[in-house]
Amino acid sequence: MKKKITIAIDGHSSCGKSTMAKDLARAIGYIYVDSGAMYRCCTLFALQHGIIADDGSIDEAEFERRMPEIQVSFRLNEETGRPDTYLNGVCVESEIRTMEVSSHVSPVAALPFVRAAMTAQQQAMGREGGIVMDGRDIGTAVFPDAELKIFVTASDEIRAQRRYDELIAKGEEADFDEVLANLRERDRIDSTREVAPLRQADDAIVLDNSHITIPEQNQWLLDRFEEKTQALSSTTSK
Ligand code: DC
Repeated sequence: MKKKITIAIDGHSSCGKSTMAKDLARAIGYIYVDSGAMYRCCTLFALQHGIIADDGSIDEAEFERRMPEIQVSFRLNEETGRPDTYLNGVCVESEIRTMEVSSHVSPVAALPFVRAAMTAQQQAMGREGGIVMDGRDIGTAVFPDAELKIFVTASDEIRAQRRYDELIAKGEEADFDEVLANLRERDRIDSTREVAPLRQADDAIVLDNSHITIPEQNQWLLDRFEEKTQALSSTTSK
């Protein structure tokens, strides 16, 4: 049997990383982990417990004290065939995708104690390999030894349009300019924070998906996976 590898998919927000990572995981029988959902869970927890005030300020001491209470897990939804996100055993898949959570998540994800806790949970999930994880620092900080690393990007406007369409399809109110501004601000915070900023790993393969379809993208990714697993099995069989 072929060894199961670790696949890290990093990139900017709303560039379709989750869709491609989920589809790949399903096609090859690997576990999929959405690490952004984990930072969203931390943000939801902080909002629910008054740790984030109305003006957006964060009570860091209280947050750090309560961090051990946050456990994130994923369970397959039989209807959608995709994993749902659970915060302390409660399904929060739709709560974590609202604009309210989106607009507070980047400062939360920049806090070193939040990153340390989530990175530890992510590394525990990936210990056995056979995992596709998407995020911002998977190939650089969480799994620096991942066998396959992909860095995905697309233009700002195209990414904002995708996020806007997603919100509208879910029946949420959305304003395109607000979505675009939120996305640019998140990119700025994610790329300039001190701990594990968003950056391309030196050994990552870049995919700009501004102008390709989802089936084309899925095929491209599957080809990279086949290439990598074949190269690895020929080196191990030598
Ligand atoms: O991919 P997303 O939009 O759901 O991510 C939500 C936020 O979490 C985003 O602002 C960046 C942050 N994030 C992170 O800092 N590190 C990760 N590995 C994944 C997401």
